[in-house]
Amino acid sequence: MNTPRTLGTPLSPSATKVMLLGSGELGKEVIIALQRLGVETIAVDRYPNAPGHQVAHRAHVVDMTDGEALAALIAREQPDLVVPEIEAIATDKLAELEAAGTITCIPTARAALLTMNREGIRRLAAEELGLATSPYRFASSLAELQAACAEIGFPCVVKPVMSSSGKGQSKLDSAADVENAWHYAAAGGRVDAGRVIVEGFIDFDYEITLLTVRANGSAGEIETVFCEPIGHKQVQGDYVESWQPQPMSPRALDNARDIAAKVTANLGGRGVFGVELFVKGDMVWFSEVSPRPHDTGMVTMATQVQSEFELHAKAILGLPVNPLLRASGASAVIYGGLEQAGIAFEGVAEALQVPESDIRLFGKPASFARRRMGVALATAVDVDTARQRALEAASRVKPVSRQD
Ligand SMILES: Nc1ncnc2c1ncn2[C@@H]1O[C@H](COP(=O)(O)OP(=O)(O)OP(=O)(O)O)[C@@H](O)[C@H]1O
Ligand SMILES: [Mg+2]
Repeated sequence: MNTPRTLGTPLSPSATKVMLLGSGELGKEVIIALQRLGVETIAVDRYPNAPGHQVAHRAHVVDMTDGEALAALIAREQPDLVVPEIEAIATDKLAELEAAGTITCIPTARAALLTMNREGIRRLAAEELGLATSPYRFASSLAELQAACAEIGFPCVVKPVMSSSGKGQSKLDSAADVENAWHYAAAGGRVDAGRVIVEGFIDFDYEITLLTVRANGSAGEIETVFCEPIGHKQVQGDYVESWQPQPMSPRALDNARDIAAKVTANLGGRGVFGVELFVKGDMVWFSEVSPRPHDTGMVTMATQVQSEFELHAKAILGLPVNPLLRASGASAVIYGGLEQAGIAFEGVAEALQVPESDIRLFGKPASFARRRMGVALATAVDVDTARQRALEAASRVKPVSRQD
């Protein structure tokens, strides 16, 4: 794996160049963190004026599922590091370019490839690493799904193997729900509309994201460090609130770290991983992992000495990281509400009157009802107060049509 040995001057022959594949709100923050280290940043997304496009040295609009288009852009830009920010990219092409020594992919092309498909990461976690997961089956037709659901039992959850943010996902209470779930998954899947996973429903007490960082230690070897656990609330498979630290029993925390260490060691490379886990008492189940900063981790912009984005930027450059918690805090999502391009936001001043609060607006060119347009952040002496503050601040921000 190549690590830049020096950091250069952007837009000069010495530049250290990093290309982000996907330039949403998470990529935008990674780019800002890289900019602060004088890294030359190249933002790629499938639509113009994506949040990361607006803060990078160069912006490109490319269909990232098109391997040839991606390879052509990489050949033109010659980045030192290629950093996937989303799942929907031609990861097979990244693997080919990595194998040929053409690129260094963060954390590894294999990690991007395995985690873009629920089947890859689930089989690795459960069958190769022996980690506790929900019981599961895969199905490629309605008849197979009916048989799989009967084996798993109800309630269960059906998801397209390639999807994110809860798209195409449903909870089934009885055999009567299977047919609808199949059609819903087919409509919500990303690439291969014909394959789903069915998982036994885990009746967890709470769920967490354990941000796990693989970064260079003092002797240059890769160390694994953990952030404090992040609790979160999901609605329709999409995160609406997160907080840090989530209180856990010492045993549950040990189990969580053990799972996270195993899965990230297998995926390899350097950077931040968002390990999603379900917890009941001292028991912990692996759910899935993002080999990149996690949406629920936006809370770390308020709570940590180095946010998950700064941790990622440093780790991928081969620099040491500090995952220390600074304060208890929370985040609450600001949705678009409107279906419109170029909206405006009222109430930001009122939101900022909430004690210890802050607001991020992502600058997305178009709003949809359930599109995440911003996030409210807050700190407090305890997590409950921080959650109330973040929710209050988010509720004061009102998306409105632009008034001429
Ligand atoms: N087997 C399960 N048992 C109980 N709850 C589940 C199960 N699978 C998923 N969920 C709930 O649905 C949420 C979304 O599931 P999952 O993370 O698999 O989907 P996703 O589309 O990848 O979401 P995201 O991209 O936002 O992480 C989980 O965070 C959890 O709240
Ligand atoms: Mg998830």
